Amino acid sequence: MSDRAEELRSRILELTREYTALAHAPKPFVPGESRISYAGRVFDAAEVVGLVGSSLDFWLTAGPCADRFEKAMAGFFRAQDFVLVNSGSSANLLMVAALCAEDAARAQGGPGRLLPGDEVITPAVTFPTTLTPIVQNQLVPVFVDCEVGTYNINPALVEEAIGPRTKALLVPHTVGNPCDMAALTELAERRNLWLLEDSCDALGATFDGRLVGSFGAMGSLSFYPAHHITMGEGGGVVVNNPDFHRTVRSLRDWGRDCWCEPGCNNTCGRRFDWRMGELPYGYDHKYIYANLGYNLKATDLQAAIGLAQFEKIPAFVEARRRNFRRYHEALKPLEDRLELPRIDPRANPSPFGFPLTVREGVDRRALTTHLENAKIETRLVFGGNILRQPGFLSIPRRVHGQLEGSDRIMRDTFFLGVYPGLGEAQIDYVIEQVFGFFKEGSR
Ligand SMILES: Cc1ncc(COP(=O)(O)O)c(C=O)c1O
Repeated sequence: MSDRAEELRSRILELTREYTALAHAPKPFVPGESRISYAGRVFDAAEVVGLVGSSLDFWLTAGPCADRFEKAMAGFFRAQDFVLVNSGSSANLLMVAALCAEDAARAQGGPGRLLPGDEVITPAVTFPTTLTPIVQNQLVPVFVDCEVGTYNINPALVEEAIGPRTKALLVPHTVGNPCDMAALTELAERRNLWLLEDSCDALGATFDGRLVGSFGAMGSLSFYPAHHITMGEGGGVVVNNPDFHRTVRSLRDWGRDCWCEPGCNNTCGRRFDWRMGELPYGYDHKYIYANLGYNLKATDLQAAIGLAQFEKIPAFVEARRRNFRRYHEALKPLEDRLELPRIDPRANPSPFGFPLTVREGVDRRALTTHLENAKIETRLVFGGNILRQPGFLSIPRRVHGQLEGSDRIMRDTFFLGVYPGLGEAQIDYVIEQVFGFFKEGSR
């Protein structure tokens, strides 16, 4: 780059810094007037400078920033690999598709390749695209009930749900609260099942001191703005089992067999020397397709934002935990009206939200409407009992036992925001409004 171009670049980035400080300065909180979102992106000049810098580089497709981000995340998880994709939904799709790919037949540590009709155990309270990859890959989901309090799959029911065709468990750590990973990993090993974790809501959460997302063969993350870090749209697969690392990348990148980084050629050293399928000998490895893949790649612009967000993970997680603790302590006196979240002593959540379940006689809708009128956003636990969703009524399935906990969660649970954009003033205002609802008499 010429000196003049370098100089202009520095000026543009300096102006970007100045602009961001002015245009995106935090606004003062005015109780009752300022909206309290349940989640949102939290950023400063670093993210905007990263994005503008990347746009000036004009690499566009996944390139140097994506590579650095993937390496940083793989290091964070001490994983074999971290594969950046365009959403958490894509990450879930890749995890399930990888279990169905031919290479899975040779993978160590599980029951091999999943075939159409094989079963995957998963909770009934879930996010739609945690479940849909199972159905889309012609596998059969086996639904297990969830617990009020943890909002996770009930670990005591999972073993009973295993049938002759059960090959995998796919468990989300609901709203950032880790599942009982001691029980689930022990069970997966003993019964020879693949374990997949949907950690989209739980970046930074630990169980027995180990990060969730690092227990299963693979774990997924989402970088949508509501999540712990964001790049707008984005996600990733934490690949813990080395036998899946090339398959996940292949499935992300059109199903190709070649593993060259963008802009590179002949990484394998035998680009024109392969014999595969029924192709003529020496067919260009770049154009050899070993899997039925997708294109689920993210761009370098997204990764540039992600790199700045990566640095903030510890502070973001701590802020979420602080807000969660504040709610937990303050709302204890309402325990006869509201069920507070239950945390396993071995778990350290990285909360996505603060879930509450109304007890008998309390109307959830009245409470969330009261909060909404006070400009406080709430959310339900995603799809609730997903089997009651219109698009899921007729999916192939097996249901283990009753789904009473899941139905109750669907009817009575909601969550409050804990994201790092909320400070003490906002949390205290929310607490005051929750108490205000119960003081109003009839509740
Ligand atoms: C548990 C869970 N899994 C998967 C997803 C999908 O992530 P994305 O929106 O990035 O596709 C979400 C989204 O919020 C989620 O909460």
